[in-house]
Amino acid sequence: MKLLSVGFGLIPLVQAGLRFPCSTLTFQRLDPVVQPGSNPSAHLHHIVGGNAFNATMTGDVGERATCTTCQMAEDFSNYWTAVMFFKHPNGSYHRVPVVPVQPLLGGSNGAQGGITVYYTQYDLMRDNIQQQPIKAFPPGFRMTVGSPGSTSPPHVGLTYQCLQGGNRGPEMSDFPTKPCSGGIFTTHHFPACWDGKSLDSPDHQSHMYNTITMNGFTNAPPCPASHPVRVPQVTYETTWDTTKFNSMWPSGAPNPFVWSFEGTRGYGTHADYMFGWKGDALQRAMDKSECFYDGCGAIKKQAMSIANQCKIKDMVGEQTDGWLPALPGMAEMKN
Ligand SMILES: *[C@@H]1O[C@H](CO)[C@@H](O)[C@H](O)[C@H]1NC(C)=O
Ligand SMILES: *[C@@H]1O[C@H](CO)[C@@H](O)[C@H](O)[C@H]1NC(C)=O
Repeated sequence: MKLLSVGFGLIPLVQAGLRFPCSTLTFQRLDPVVQPGSNPSAHLHHIVGGNAFNATMTGDVGERATCTTCQMAEDFSNYWTAVMFFKHPNGSYHRVPVVPVQPLLGGSNGAQGGITVYYTQYDLMRDNIQQQPIKAFPPGFRMTVGSPGSTSPPHVGLTYQCLQGGNRGPEMSDFPTKPCSGGIFTTHHFPACWDGKSLDSPDHQSHMYNTITMNGFTNAPPCPASHPVRVPQVTYETTWDTTKFNSMWPSGAPNPFVWSFEGTRGYGTHADYMFGWKGDALQRAMDKSECFYDGCGAIKKQAMSIANQCKIKDMVGEQTDGWLPALPGMAEMKN
């Protein structure tokens, strides 16, 4: 009886929330949100999404891009984070490869590197359409979460997990202290309350408000009067394949992984978001209960083999792979 009632309860449950892969678009030292117009920007980024990505991005990105590395064919947004590097005991750095987040969902096989992106509502378990309306971001909207300069633990939505086999382990606010046989998994949850007016703010964060106080995909409490508009809760997941560096991590030595800005411990983990869905595609998805995970008739999907063909030029022209004497852009600061 118990099982039956649980099973029955699931049928009318209305859920809406997207989860889909975006392959790697590029690794470049550009940052159109924090350092618009700067080529190069201060540190290296791992970028996924539409091909309108550039040092400066204004206006309706969804109208300008012509392809995207994301499974959702109408999503020309750009999503990026700093890049993880291994710092060898001899002082050299090597970029940590990115691999797709497992498990992949139906039709998303063939993702290359990249980020798994979520747009959720109340949480992943409940009917949020009836809880409160979700308003999609307007063209030109952008935001960041976290800060490379941070010297104290970030908010609970920014985490590290040590992958061991199929196990992700607990969410932590800093890099793992021991080698992880399956790599390091990072999560960036953005705030979901918007002031309803500003496409951006001077610090790229104060137009948004975070109501989430527990980690994971937990319930978001109501938005405050200062930031009354509930927008989709955007989350990035990235798997950094640290495995080939584990044998170079001397037993008992502290964590040798750093972000592309080096920073203090892992506290500077951060992510940037540039909205770029075409027309009302994101709003259509948020309004439809069938839009749960990647099963959604209201928006168009593409095969990852097509998504992987979306490319942009290297606009910076510097070496970011192989063994490097310094992190890209950090040589001046080292001497
Ligand atoms: C990037 O910006 C430069 C300078 O404005 C422009 O020449 C170039 O076409 C842009 N590239 C893309 C892919 O939009
Ligand atoms: C550090 O070690 C790596 C891996 O063995 C090697 O490729 C690199 O050249 C070394 N760097 C220096 C400065 O010795």
